[in-house]
Amino acid sequence: MEKKELESELVVVKNDNDPMDEMDELVPNLPQERSREGGRLCLYSNNFWTWVKFLRPILNSQKYFKAHDTDIIISTLPKSGTTWLKALTYSIVNRNNYSINQSPLLISNPHDLVPRLEFQINQEDLINVENTNSAGPRIFSTHVPYHLLSNSLHKSKCKVIYICRNPLDHFTSLRPFLLENEFENDGEPPLSLDESFDMFCRGIYPYGPFWEHVLGYWNAHLRNPDKLLFLKYEDLQQDVVLYVKKIAEFIGLGFSEEEDDVIKGIVQLCTFENMKNLEVNKTGIFSGNIIEVKNCSFFRKGQVGDWANYLTPEMKEKFDKIIEAKLQGFGLKFKYSAKDI
Ligand code: PPS
Repeated sequence: MEKKELESELVVVKNDNDPMDEMDELVPNLPQERSREGGRLCLYSNNFWTWVKFLRPILNSQKYFKAHDTDIIISTLPKSGTTWLKALTYSIVNRNNYSINQSPLLISNPHDLVPRLEFQINQEDLINVENTNSAGPRIFSTHVPYHLLSNSLHKSKCKVIYICRNPLDHFTSLRPFLLENEFENDGEPPLSLDESFDMFCRGIYPYGPFWEHVLGYWNAHLRNPDKLLFLKYEDLQQDVVLYVKKIAEFIGLGFSEEEDDVIKGIVQLCTFENMKNLEVNKTGIFSGNIIEVKNCSFFRKGQVGDWANYLTPEMKEKFDKIIEAKLQGFGLKFKYSAKDI
């Protein structure tokens, strides 16, 4: 499709006097729920909850993003280690372009160096986004489920790296992020922890249900492990050096034996403590096309098992039953405690 034609079709941020389009007709017919931690949700394609206002850019990226065979796509559920994985992957890819003490990560948040397909790329440019932040392959991120990735991405030889996290830490990390960075405020008080957890158990929260998202990528990884690397946050916490090497090999940029110090430098640069304390991450603002977030809210505790400080044993038991049933037979397990890693 010609770029000119694309521009006329996309209405990215709509004004009141813009003409109605198919999206305006679609949304009222989708099931919707109030998620007062962060905006109104709708259920798309029967198994994907997203904020109503995010549906348009998500579908635009699905329809128009043209992947290159050399691209690297970092895909995650929010709060699963995206920021860390972006920093590590960016550093691996650019290790011959910048020394560690001149890394752009020292002055830029990882989300500004690895843009998200849905929000940080002008939608008119999705067909041919330039590589502005990296001298190596293009690196992008996305939170959308596997089945909603663009067809071009599915067909291309690009590499996809997925990271997920045990669902209780994922939930525990997401809630304060949503409360802190209100995406919408309808004037009503936020949901209680119990109400929010109940919705999480029913899969009704942004990018949920958890099991649909992880299983989509897990099954794709089993079908084609050379195309999709499947990682877990807890495993990186346990042995990040091992996973830095795996990531590098997966994207065809394996380390030589002489590069042990480079690996150590990358790991050290990207530690939670180091990144959290960089000026840009203490004071900066992350700005996507339709959202703004404080950089500091990407760095909270960086621990495995923090859920136990917020959720009761009964809540854990309730969720265990749900997740065991949903994941049964798929061979996918999670670690819930620092003692397990
Ligand atoms: S987002 O908004 O989706 O990009 O968030 P995401 O980066 O996926 O997840 C945020 C959680 O990851 C922790 N974090 C890190 N852990 C280890 N190392 C590094 N460098 C790092 N950077 C961020 C962050 O603190 C969030 O977890 P919680 O449990 O909330 O602390």
